[in-house]
Amino acid sequence: MNEHNERSEALAAQFIERTKARDITVGIIGLGYVGLPLAEAFIKAGVRVLGYDIDQEKVDLICAGKTYIKHISDDRLAAMNATGRMAATSDEARLADPDAILMCVPTPLNIHREPDISYVEQTTRVIAKYLRKGQIVVLESTTYPGTSEEIVRPLLEESGLKAGVDFAVAYSPEREDPGNPDFDTSTIPKVVGADSDPERRMAEALYATITTPFLVPNMKTAEAVKLTENIFRLVNIALVNELKVVFQGMDIDVWDVIEGAKSKPFGYMAFYPGPGLGGHCIPIDPFYLTWKARAHRQSTRFIELAGDVVMGMPRLVIETMAQGLSQKSQKSIAGARILISGLAYKKNVDDMRESPSLHLFEMLLERGAKVDFYDPHIPVVPHTRDHPEFNGLKSIEFTRENLAQYDAILISTDHDAVDYAMMVDVAPLIIDTRNALSEFVDTHGAKILKA
Ligand SMILES: NC(=O)c1ccc[n+]([C@@H]2O[C@H](COP(=O)([O-])OP(=O)(O)OC[C@H]3O[C@@H](n4cnc5c(N)ncnc54)[C@H](O)[C@@H]3O)[C@@H](O)[C@H]2O)c1
Repeated sequence: MNEHNERSEALAAQFIERTKARDITVGIIGLGYVGLPLAEAFIKAGVRVLGYDIDQEKVDLICAGKTYIKHISDDRLAAMNATGRMAATSDEARLADPDAILMCVPTPLNIHREPDISYVEQTTRVIAKYLRKGQIVVLESTTYPGTSEEIVRPLLEESGLKAGVDFAVAYSPEREDPGNPDFDTSTIPKVVGADSDPERRMAEALYATITTPFLVPNMKTAEAVKLTENIFRLVNIALVNELKVVFQGMDIDVWDVIEGAKSKPFGYMAFYPGPGLGGHCIPIDPFYLTWKARAHRQSTRFIELAGDVVMGMPRLVIETMAQGLSQKSQKSIAGARILISGLAYKKNVDDMRESPSLHLFEMLLERGAKVDFYDPHIPVVPHTRDHPEFNGLKSIEFTRENLAQYDAILISTDHDAVDYAMMVDVAPLIIDTRNALSEFVDTHGAKILKA
């Protein structure tokens, strides 16, 4: 065994032993939709957590036991604080303390729809400033294969310490599915990749405290796993949207088709059509790979085609609405009063990042409609990167009198907490992009148009 191997083995042995004894502090950078539930999982596992965020408001709220994420209640936050093992800070110097540092910062696309990894770079530089021997640094943000190897590791080594010898680096993608009642961090296996055996074993021991780790050979494979999962979703969502249009032309309801296909117990997995691409993952992550593929002179036509198909869906929804308005009330979209039901990107959550509802809102306004929205989970529109013009807009109250004022209602997101019986009773026309009104088609079919 050479000197480097001895040092890396010693590093791993010490970390693994302390992790098994739950005698470690896990630093979590970025206390958003991913970072906060992750902090909770480590607290539940019995380790100490130091959350770090540049957003002082979030840090203050955590310390006060006040939630800012709908599915993590005040009670859950209070329970974390009550253990005495949860700390939150915006003081970067404290990042010298944790034994493991997990980065959960945003990885959006820039205005040219290229990867914006400035958050990852900035965070890594901060970690490098305080890096000490024995720490393990793990990137959890979704990104293109090569980010950890080509950007994170070299930036950390600018500290003068050597990766795999003085400190460890790994990549482990997040599979958090906010609002999913069937799975949480502890029941979703976690893919873990590192470029040397000792680093892999350290990362494995770390994540074994909160869930079942699944090891892959290196960091870039783990990065590719995450993109593969989301590209799989994108391509299948695109396919079912295309089938929706094809079957519509044959007077076949794609929702009935999906139910039929689902009866096959193998070889088929149900995906559902909708009003367009939504959320912080599917509209963004696949294009991290298309960008990186170009650098390797590879084309990604399949992924781009899938993106094009789904991006065409909002136009189709608007066309259906225009036809419905003209047939039912000889009106056009210009001047019509339209209510969008559901602003979040998926049902039962308050997250509206990349929501297709916002795109539809914009398209309807451009065509001269008077548009309002109703969302039981979003009383007021918060600041969004892409649509600052909607900041502060308020949801209407869901009353018969209010609903009666609209020429059409567009169900963009099918939250469970909406009184659809009242909606079908009052509204003259409803464009249903989520099959939310299936139980009312027999009784109120004349005013429901699926799109
Ligand atoms: N939300 C999900 O369900 C989900 C699922 C899987 C993967 N991901 C990925 O996880 C990553 C994080 O996503 P998210 O949804 O938690 O984002 P988020 O916007 O909810 O949270 C990110 C947090 O990072 C903080 N932050 C930004 N720059 C920082 C910096 N330089 N230092 C410290 N903190 C900083 C922000 O203030 C924010 O609190 C992204 O790469 C995303 O693609 C998200």
